[in-house]
Amino acid sequence: MCAQCSRFYISGMTDIASTKHEANPQSPAWLPILALLYDPFLWLGEIAGMRTRRSALLGNARGRVVEIGAGTGLNVAHYPDEVAELVLTEPDPAMRRRLARRLGRHSRVARIVDAPAECLPLADASVDTVVSTLVLCSVTDLEGTLSEIARVLRPDGQLLFIEHVRASSRFLAACQDYLFRPWYRFAGGCCCNRPTVELMRACGFAVAADDVVWRGMPAIVHPLVVGKATR
Ligand SMILES: C[S@@+](CC[C@H](N)C(=O)[O-])C[C@H]1O[C@@H](n2cnc3c(N)ncnc32)[C@H](O)[C@@H]1O
Repeated sequence: MCAQCSRFYISGMTDIASTKHEANPQSPAWLPILALLYDPFLWLGEIAGMRTRRSALLGNARGRVVEIGAGTGLNVAHYPDEVAELVLTEPDPAMRRRLARRLGRHSRVARIVDAPAECLPLADASVDTVVSTLVLCSVTDLEGTLSEIARVLRPDGQLLFIEHVRASSRFLAACQDYLFRPWYRFAGGCCCNRPTVELMRACGFAVAADDVVWRGMPAIVHPLVVGKATR
């Protein structure tokens, strides 16, 4: 656990933007339905720019690459051939089944691992690139996840990310707070109002990120950050 993050949380965050939450908040029956709906729900956003964003970001992946929360595998097609090893972690069984199916349709060789981002079954300083796209909003323990990423990254390693975050507009941030609970239940434990970049910095990462808009999606997840964090 990052002591700096804990301090930041106590002094700077509301309860509703908490960086920890209960695991599996939905009825177990909802998660397979969510996995089924995931690609159709994101479809418009993918063609409205997210696919291009994934491709541009993942062009920077190198060496031993570990993707956390790989979901249905929307990133799989975008990894460069030069990547030495690809490990796709995903804790949800229904998502994992879809991920395995998508991987089977591609020539890419990768290992699928059942693991939460808070507890990666990987040695210290053994990874060149960690990839997180739309996952840091959903992890149960964000500080724990960031410290786990820092643990597995080599000293010159990088975290490549696309994450939706708390809005800088006060009006949109208030909407995110207001709609937090229904969205959280609908979207599998996704927290729409997390100040993720601030927390990365508080955990000791140097972050270079662009603010963009996730077009084709509900307004509360419009604010996106795309970039790279290093230890
Ligand atoms: C919004 S989806 C993103 C999927 C994929 N990364 C993408 O870009 O389309 C969030 C994913 O995070 C996974 N997830 C939830 N909690 C997690 C945790 N604690 N550790 C790792 N992944 C988690 C979910 O199962 C889901 O597949």
